[in-house]
Amino acid sequence: MSEKKTIADTTVLVTGGAGFIGSHTVVKLLESGYTVVVVDDLSNASEKVLDRIDQIVGDEASERLSFYRADVNDRAALEAVFDDCQIDRVIHFAGFKAVGESVQKPIEYYANNLGNTLTLLDVMREHGCKSIIFSSSATVYGDPDALPLTEQSTKKNATNPYGWTKWMIEQILTDVAKADPEWDVVLLRYFNPIGAHPSGLIGEDPKGIPNNLVPYVAQVAVGKRDAVHVFGNDYDTHDGTGVRDYIHVVDLAAGHVAALAWMNGRSGVEIFNLGTGTGSSVLDVIKAFSAACGKELPYVIEPRRAGDVTANYADCTKAREEMGWEAQYDLADMCRDSWNWQSHNPNGYED
Ligand code: UD1
Repeated sequence: MSEKKTIADTTVLVTGGAGFIGSHTVVKLLESGYTVVVVDDLSNASEKVLDRIDQIVGDEASERLSFYRADVNDRAALEAVFDDCQIDRVIHFAGFKAVGESVQKPIEYYANNLGNTLTLLDVMREHGCKSIIFSSSATVYGDPDALPLTEQSTKKNATNPYGWTKWMIEQILTDVAKADPEWDVVLLRYFNPIGAHPSGLIGEDPKGIPNNLVPYVAQVAVGKRDAVHVFGNDYDTHDGTGVRDYIHVVDLAAGHVAALAWMNGRSGVEIFNLGTGTGSSVLDVIKAFSAACGKELPYVIEPRRAGDVTANYADCTKAREEMGWEAQYDLADMCRDSWNWQSHNPNGYED
């Protein structure tokens, strides 16, 4: 069983804490009173994120934040972090996340995502830290048989190596907890995180052409791209375009804080969906974003994208009943905050 601790007494290691979801979670953790250690190799994030986090949370809270630039798969570096800091719990975000790239580079994806998780778990065990929240994905549900998706819905085959790494890490963590009942594991299955911190200081900063819908839409809004490419309008949905459960990244971050409080003093494995329960189509998103930025965003209809499912959205009853967590923001809020971030930082964290 993980030791029951007060927030003021708890140090949380956040791997990938400079990334999109990681950075928003670090803000929420600091605002909640936790001490936070970020390990990030900055391979897909900017060091500026750390300054922005300091600006958001202020001096008192930022004193509880420390940063180590290191690859989680660098065992010696990770051991040094555990030797320096008394880590109580871990939130593991670090990993490669581009679906298309994972199809091209399966060896790199499996080596990095599975390798860093195994290194992390081994170093944690060595230091007597057996409490972890893992950043999983609704991708593990594949093409759903029925909606909404509950935590009991069947896990299906992934359609790409990235998805398989999420699937396999869930299995690894389940096996680890089975072998040693002292482990305390929470698997959080995210639906589609979008939005940005309302301050406009941190947000999503994809490299190159965005793969995901909302970062692409945001770049059209700011004039960096001509039109949104809508992948398919012949799906069996209300307007023919794909339906997803978009969730504000700040709500998602709060879900991690709720999970930390919930797991305090428990053991075993628990799974929670983090979504809103509402499905929105691609055209719904374009419409909401157009309203947020005050101009009609152009789009063109393209063929379906391989591997995409028709629709998915979450049943979030379990997270509400067990952890007392529920999403607060709707699609209009998400688009407003994405636009605020994108319009103030058209080139992301680059000058
Ligand atoms: C994708 C990944 C998922 C991953 C998640 C991370 C796939 C198949 N799935 O989810 O494994 O966990 O990102 O954020 O890639 N769309 C367009 N035009 C675009 C981009 C997307 O029409 O330029 C459509 C898609 O067809 C889909 C919806 O928008 O219907 C959302 O797409 P996206 O943002 O890429 O997320 P997912 O595909 O749901």
